[in-house]
Amino acid sequence: MDAIFTYVFIFLLTLLSFLIFMKRDKREEPEKRAKLPPGSLGWPYIGETLQLYSQDPNTFFSTKQKRYGEIFKTHILGCPCVMLASPEAAKFVLVTEAHLFKPTYPKSKERLIGPSALFFHQGDYHIRLRKLVQGSLSLDIIRNLVPHIEAIAVSGSDSWVSGQVINTFHEMKKYSFQVGILATFGHLEAHYKQELNNNYTILEKGYNSFPTNIPGTSYKKALLARKRLREILGDIISERKEKRLLEKDLLGCLLNSKDKKGEVLTDDQIADNILGVLFAAQDTTASVMTWILKYLHDEPKLLEAVKAEHNAIRESNEEGNQPLSWAQTRNMPISSKVVLESLRMASIISFAFREAVVDVEYKGYLIPKGWKVMPLFRNIHHNPEFFADPHKFDPSRLEVAPKPNTFMPFGSGVHACPGNELAKLELLIMMHHLVTKFRWEVVGSQNEIQYSPFPVPLHGLPAKFWKKSTC
Ligand code: HEM
Repeated sequence: MDAIFTYVFIFLLTLLSFLIFMKRDKREEPEKRAKLPPGSLGWPYIGETLQLYSQDPNTFFSTKQKRYGEIFKTHILGCPCVMLASPEAAKFVLVTEAHLFKPTYPKSKERLIGPSALFFHQGDYHIRLRKLVQGSLSLDIIRNLVPHIEAIAVSGSDSWVSGQVINTFHEMKKYSFQVGILATFGHLEAHYKQELNNNYTILEKGYNSFPTNIPGTSYKKALLARKRLREILGDIISERKEKRLLEKDLLGCLLNSKDKKGEVLTDDQIADNILGVLFAAQDTTASVMTWILKYLHDEPKLLEAVKAEHNAIRESNEEGNQPLSWAQTRNMPISSKVVLESLRMASIISFAFREAVVDVEYKGYLIPKGWKVMPLFRNIHHNPEFFADPHKFDPSRLEVAPKPNTFMPFGSGVHACPGNELAKLELLIMMHHLVTKFRWEVVGSQNEIQYSPFPVPLHGLPAKFWKKSTC
């Protein structure tokens, strides 16, 4: 009898503990009650990868948004994802609850850039590195770069033969790489520039290729170029250390930094961050500049207004005999709006990529731990609710500030682009140089887009340029 009582007692106690545990569990983890967002996870393993890659990715995203609304799930490249297409959701992920979402990149890409580059991190290390990068790209520093950036713009276009077809995107990549080198190292010997450029080009080709160690493949070649880049950067770092200069360029900021315990950064951390910044700076700026040239080409009236703005500046600079000043670059109202509208229209960074570090509940939906989370900038930039007639190129719309969190070409929150002011400055300087000295015509197909991986007009916008004197 005693034994029966004991068993019943133990059973009731276990049941009670279980009920209490369940109740507590539900109270402490409300998201467990939330449901997954609407949408389809597609086929087992492959998910909806084929649907995404067999069409323009923007059609994929916007069709989903029309069908499911501003938050939906999908499954691509082996990962379950939640996509978010509203300004509030983007703010939630990138700003207010940013600590719940970590940046996420494939390991194969991390190996090429270097694991210590700031954009792979969050927390104290990220904050420290970000301050250094931001400091080296602040307005106070970049204002001194204006004449040097202008010189790079002039020397690049000097090699164009009048009337010969050039690949605009490639030419703009040369320009943005040189500007990246300038912001990173200040003055750098020509042989270093050349070696960095040669190896960086190989690294870049492998970045979006299939990751394998098989000799001869683009990825393996990229890994070897990465090794050589590290050696070149090692030499540059050693030389700079010997000189003991207190430069304010990126390398100077990284070399002179000490944390709370007085620790300096290792050479590997410095090299990874230099490569990271050069990488973040090049294709982004070059593709926006290519789009600006296309939009201006397609809008002759607007081009005339932009030309008038720059010709007035050129006249006041004794027909270009005086260099552009910082103050002049801050006073180009029409061109500045052209830059912003190009950033909106082209939305070259269409989304940010994060991963939920815990189960998160957003507006009654569960975003499970480990799922990828993508705030869709392009969908927000092209939503008629925020930008009327969104596919029309109309810089005047930016005379009125966009609603909060609806305009994020440089991202938002803790990982927002620290290079945004430099990018805008180099775009304006290149624009000044091209519209005052050149005329251009786009060659061939004019409305198709290629993804490399940023959207760029097909074949890099082949175009003929004529210098003004020979127009
Ligand atoms: C028009 C040109 C550019 C565009 C559209 C652009 C856009 C962006 C965006 C959207 C992000 C945030 C990504 C995210 O949240 O995951 C970002 C981050 C970043 N950008 Fe840019 N960028 C441009 C030019 C530059 C330049 C010129 C530099 C440096 C010289 C630069 C350096 C960086 C770095 C280092 C980060 C990572 C910041 C962090 O993780 O804290 N970018 N950029």
